[in-house]
Amino acid sequence: MKTKPRRLQRAVTLGVIALATVSLQSVAAQAAPHPDPNPSNRIVGGTRAEQGEFPFIVRLSMGCGGALYAKDIVLTAAHCVDGSDATGITVTGAVVDLESPDAIKVKSTKILVAPGYDGKGKDWALVKLEKPIDQPTLKIAKDPKYNEGEFDIAGWGADKEGGQQQRYLLKAKVPFVDDATCQKAYGDRLTPGEEICTGKLHVGGVDTCQGDSGGPMFRRDEAGEYVQVGIVSWGDGCARPESPGIYTEVSTFAGDIEKAASEL
Ligand code: ARG
Repeated sequence: MKTKPRRLQRAVTLGVIALATVSLQSVAAQAAPHPDPNPSNRIVGGTRAEQGEFPFIVRLSMGCGGALYAKDIVLTAAHCVDGSDATGITVTGAVVDLESPDAIKVKSTKILVAPGYDGKGKDWALVKLEKPIDQPTLKIAKDPKYNEGEFDIAGWGADKEGGQQQRYLLKAKVPFVDDATCQKAYGDRLTPGEEICTGKLHVGGVDTCQGDSGGPMFRRDEAGEYVQVGIVSWGDGCARPESPGIYTEVSTFAGDIEKAASEL
């Protein structure tokens, strides 16, 4: 960077536009540093979501995330609500700031834990709300074709292994990790077909973490609409190299989820 001005002086043939571009770049480079340039201090590799960016994401009072499957039904992880009192959950929506006066808070009336859930795979559940949260919903992937590429993750969970829960919703993007590769990390603890993995395999640094559970892992479909591919479930630590994050494979359970929601 320090050699740039000299080179600029010598480059007398540079056009006005090129000069303007270079000076814009150096202004940007000299601008105040990011509030915390070290990614490891900013979520597990994330940044703050804009208000309204992911309006379907909600927070559950036991410290999990969820997504609005319908305005009055939240899709979350079974391990978040298993054993909870059906009317004892408060769901907060419509905000990225959990302390915002604009937060909508609604009580649960029913919980449906995935049939056959026993702690291995099948980590999904539905929570019925006392009244609707009037925000856009997130459609679920009914087809495994969305189980690849790059995914969005977001939540109010810890910003690093052992870290604090967050006041503001954080987001990040993570690449797909195939079952065979993920099984090298987790062996039989992974349930391929029921679980889908993500992460920057050899480098780590970006992941969901404690308190993000139940929240959605999603991407855009051909129409450019968000579609939910996963539910935050588990992982060894958070954002460690060679330890992908593990998500419930939504497409596998799409039929069961639809049926359960229609009967809830
Ligand atoms: N089980 C955790 C929770 O209850 C989620 C952990 C996700 N871990 C990961 N490395 N992606 O919040």
